[in-house]
Amino acid sequence: MEINEIRKRLKKELDKGRYEHTKGVMYTAGCLAMAHRYSIDKAMLAGLLHDCAKCIPDNEKIALCEKNGILIHSVEYESPYLLHAKLGSFLAETVYGITDPDILHAIKVHTTGEPDMSILDKIIYIADYIEPGRNKAPNLPHVRELAFCDLNACMAEILLDTLKYCSSRGGSIDPTTKMAYDFYRQYRRE
Ligand SMILES: [Fe+2]
Ligand SMILES: [Fe+2]
Repeated sequence: MEINEIRKRLKKELDKGRYEHTKGVMYTAGCLAMAHRYSIDKAMLAGLLHDCAKCIPDNEKIALCEKNGILIHSVEYESPYLLHAKLGSFLAETVYGITDPDILHAIKVHTTGEPDMSILDKIIYIADYIEPGRNKAPNLPHVRELAFCDLNACMAEILLDTLKYCSSRGGSIDPTTKMAYDFYRQYRRE
């Protein structure tokens, strides 16, 4: 699918707020690619598609994963929104025709992160957190500044804030996010 066709299709698949967020992530990913000398086109395409499965109802997300042999963990049955990352990666390939494994992987890990991520994985994870439409997270000015100078330190900051946020709400902590933080904490700046 050509990029303009992808945009049109996503405008239909996503609700208005999610489409606005998607554009924010796409352009922010492009800017981060500039700052870190990564392919701007690849970063923008991954940003455009990262939430392509977000607006599918939860029961359909589960059904689509089961039908297509995508493994669902118990945390994902408890919080089915998590599945939009894995399912999004699958749909990016099968519906939107993306073949680049770097892009598919970045979409797959954009919600939880994981240890030792690629540059593109980090660009998408971070762009999702800092795009201009976001305003609720603590520490955003600091995280936004870090994003453009040190991707690893920025990952550590976001993962820590995410874990703090989850435990303050008494929610269950995603084990992959915890593993990701355990890897990135070594890059924390004081
Ligand atoms: Fe997402
Ligand atoms: Fe997102």
